[in-house]
Amino acid sequence: MNILELLKANKNILKNGNIEEYDIESELILMHVLKYSKSELITNLSKTLTNNQIEKNNKIIIKRLSFIPLPYILRHAYFYNSKFYINKSVLIPRQETELIVDICASILNDSSQKSSSKILEIGTGSGAITASLSDKIKSKNFHYIATDIDTKTLKIAKKNILKINENIKLDLLNNNLLNGIIGEYKFIISNPPYLSKNNMNNLQCELKYEPAKALFAGEKGYEVCEKILKQIKDFNIKFENLILEINPLNAKYLMKKTNNLFSNYFSYLIKDYNKKNRFILISSIKMKNKSSDFSYLPN
Ligand SMILES: C[S@@+](CC[C@H](N)C(=O)[O-])C[C@H]1O[C@@H](n2cnc3c(N)ncnc32)[C@H](O)[C@@H]1O
Repeated sequence: MNILELLKANKNILKNGNIEEYDIESELILMHVLKYSKSELITNLSKTLTNNQIEKNNKIIIKRLSFIPLPYILRHAYFYNSKFYINKSVLIPRQETELIVDICASILNDSSQKSSSKILEIGTGSGAITASLSDKIKSKNFHYIATDIDTKTLKIAKKNILKINENIKLDLLNNNLLNGIIGEYKFIISNPPYLSKNNMNNLQCELKYEPAKALFAGEKGYEVCEKILKQIKDFNIKFENLILEINPLNAKYLMKKTNNLFSNYFSYLIKDYNKKNRFILISSIKMKNKSSDFSYLPN
């Protein structure tokens, strides 16, 4: 059997097993088994596979048919073109979150303010945001502080961030939100848990494999976001920019809170690639939303 034949067989089996992304996942499985990049896979389609390789492929397919998310089977996920080590103690980084990296990088590249050089990420998980942002703006000498409530998660974040940017100035803190955090920040970033009780009761089966503490926020879903906003205000933490990923269903409620708490800032609700209200950006500077760099901002 050659690569093309196994690729086709994988696609059929996964499709019949109701795996939504059967196409891309079939490729990712074979790339993993053969230790190939995508281009190596595509240019070697007629190559004959060994029995060992076919067996390894089939074991992965069987696990995937039981709806274990592929990144937990392969122990890695891609985020912003980089490969991140993943296990069941961390959330699988999502594609929509990549926009946080673009937004932060464009603001930081554009910013001429020379005050704080610190970037704080609350709830870093796999470290995907901090790693990708620090890699994208390598020339800027920022000091990154990445926190998480879970110590196992922090170990994974450390491994991932240092693999992508070995020269990063980084502190990792085992912290409950902003408790104990003081100082002044150029950017505060968070993609906190934001699913509601209702969301949790109707979880798709694949989400059930992910850590509940990374997903579940409370009865309404906005509780952790609201707490972050309130703590920043109450603890008098100074910042130039703050971005939060939110549950689109809570956008109206959280924007109202934001405008009340930070009336001296400019606040923006930003949509994700699927046109859902996914991010709240609070900034001390008015964004030039006509510029192509800031095309994600509402007009
Ligand atoms: C939605 S995940 C985001 C992970 C990662 N930043 C990403 O975007 O892929 C939320 C993260 O917040 C962490 N977390 C949950 N409650 C927290 C708390 N009270 N304080 C700090 N981190 C918390 C979880 O352990 C998890 O890693």
